[in-house]
Amino acid sequence: MKQQLENDNFIRALLRQPTEYTPVWLMRQAGRYLPEYRVTRQKAGDFMTLCQTPELACEVTLQPLQRYNLDAAILFSDILTIPHAMNVGLHFAEGEGPVIEKPVRDENAVLALPIPDPETELRYVMDAVRVIKHELHHRVPLIGFAGSPWTIACYMVEGGGSKLFWQIKQMMYQTPEILHALLDKLADAVTLYLNAQIAAGVDAIMIFDTWGGVLTTENYKQFSLAYMQKILTKLQRMNENKIIPRIIFTKGGANWLENMAATDCDALGVDWTIELSQARARVGDKVALQGNLDPAALMAAPARLKEEVANILASYGHGAGHVFNLGHGIDKTTSPEIVSILIDSVHELSKQYHANSKKSL
Ligand code: CP3
Repeated sequence: MKQQLENDNFIRALLRQPTEYTPVWLMRQAGRYLPEYRVTRQKAGDFMTLCQTPELACEVTLQPLQRYNLDAAILFSDILTIPHAMNVGLHFAEGEGPVIEKPVRDENAVLALPIPDPETELRYVMDAVRVIKHELHHRVPLIGFAGSPWTIACYMVEGGGSKLFWQIKQMMYQTPEILHALLDKLADAVTLYLNAQIAAGVDAIMIFDTWGGVLTTENYKQFSLAYMQKILTKLQRMNENKIIPRIIFTKGGANWLENMAATDCDALGVDWTIELSQARARVGDKVALQGNLDPAALMAAPARLKEEVANILASYGHGAGHVFNLGHGIDKTTSPEIVSILIDSVHELSKQYHANSKKSL
C-alpha cells in the first residue's frame, strides 16, 4: 500500500471528490522568478545540467513549497528531455530558448530516431522522482509530466521555438504520413516515459500540449488529440493501490473541451480564454478542471489580484472538481511576494464553495 499523503486535496479535486478548499499549484512554480532558483541554476551551470542532476532538480522542485502553502509539487524537468535523449542535439541558448541542431524533416530522420529507454537514457528523471518523493515525506502529491507528441514534434521539426509553425505545418499538409510516423514514435516514447515516472512514484501526471491551439479543429483531432489519447489508454491507471489521475492541457484548446473530455483523462487544464462556468457546463461531470488565471494578473496590485481570484472561484462555483492554477506558466518577472498573496487568497476565498461538499455526496 502506498503511504497516505498528508495533503491529498489536489488528487481528490482531480477525481472530483470533496475537499474543504480549492487546491492550488502553479505551472512553472519552480523557476526564474524565485531568487533561490537563480542561485541553484547558476550552481548547475546550464539548464540541462540542472535537469540531469537529481539532487539539484530536487532542490528546485522543493523551493516553491518552502515559501508557499502549495497543494502539489511538480517534478523539475522539461518536455524536451525526450528529444534530448533521441540525440537531436538539444541545447538551451541563453535568452533564446531551446535550439535543436538536427531538426527532423524527412522520413530517414524519423526512422533514425531511437525510442529512449526511460530507465537508462532518461534515468536521471526517474532518479529525480525518487529523490523528490523521499524528500517530500508524503507532504503533498508529486506531479510527473511530459509534452504531447504534437508539441514535442513542433520543437523537433522547427528546430526550436516558432511563431508560425511553418515547417511542421508544411509537413502536415505535404507528407502527413511522415508526421504521423514521428508522432507515433513520440507517443510510444512518452508512454514509456510516463509509465516509468508512475513506477518511480509520481502521484499524478500531466500532458502539456502547449501548441495544439495553433491547429484547425480537424488537424487538432488527428495530429494532437489522437496521440494524447493513444498515450492515455496505455498509462498505468494505478500504482500501489492508488489511482494516478491524468490531466491534459491544450493551450488555446477552449474550442475542443468536449473532445478532450471524451479521452481517458481525469482533468482538463484550461487557459484564460474561456470562463470556467462555461467550461464546466460543457464538460459536465466527465472531468475536473484546472486553471485558469491569466499569468499577467500577477502584475496587478494585491486587491486587484484578489478580485480576479474571487471571479475565477465564483465562475467555477460550488462543489468539487476544481484545481486552481494559472492558464499558462508563471512569468519570470513575477514578484515572489505576490505569489504568496495568490496562494493564500485561493485557500481563504474558496472555503465558501466547499462548505456543503460533504452533504452533496
Ligand atoms: O512547472 C514547473 O515548475 C516544472 C518544470 C517545467 C519546466 N518546463 C522547467 C523549465 C515544466 C513543466 C516545463 C514544461 C515545458 N517546457 C513546456 C510546456 C509548458 C509551457 O510552458 O508551455 C514547454 C513548451 C517547454 C520547453 C521549454 N523549456 C522552453 C520553450 C524553455 C525556454 C523558456 C524560456 O523562458 O527561456 C524551457 C526552459 C525551461 N524549462 C525553464 C524552466 C524553469 C527556464 C530555464 C532557465 O532556467 O533558464
